Amino acid sequence: MPTLTVEGQGQFEVAAGKRLVLALVEDAGQDQLHACGGQSKCTTCRVEFVAGEPSQMTQAEHDCLTAREVSGVRLSCQINCDHDMTVRVISRLAGSGRADQGKPCTAEIQPEPAWIEKT
Ligand code: FES
Repeated sequence: MPTLTVEGQGQFEVAAGKRLVLALVEDAGQDQLHACGGQSKCTTCRVEFVAGEPSQMTQAEHDCLTAREVSGVRLSCQINCDHDMTVRVISRLAGSGRADQGKPCTAEIQPEPAWIEKT
């Protein structure tokens, strides 16, 4: 099982291949935002990688980050926990002014992932 380390929060064993956004919420107990429900449309699921950043990304993640001119972060809804990784949670419900963390996220990455090398 991969180890997910959340900076300042601890280390958590997560099921291999679990969606990172769900691991952050369900396993690490974080109030991570995911407004669009893991559809790669909002960027509120963004995290900063400290270690173990995946070398691949989905085309949807690439397109969303590019369209919004966001850099230096990754979309946790577009990443599977298939190896050890350390992240910094930077987009929380607390202090966001939002009513909730967002729409429910499915177990599988949506939309259907097309994997590309990270640019
Ligand atoms: S982009 Fe909206 S939850 Fe990931």
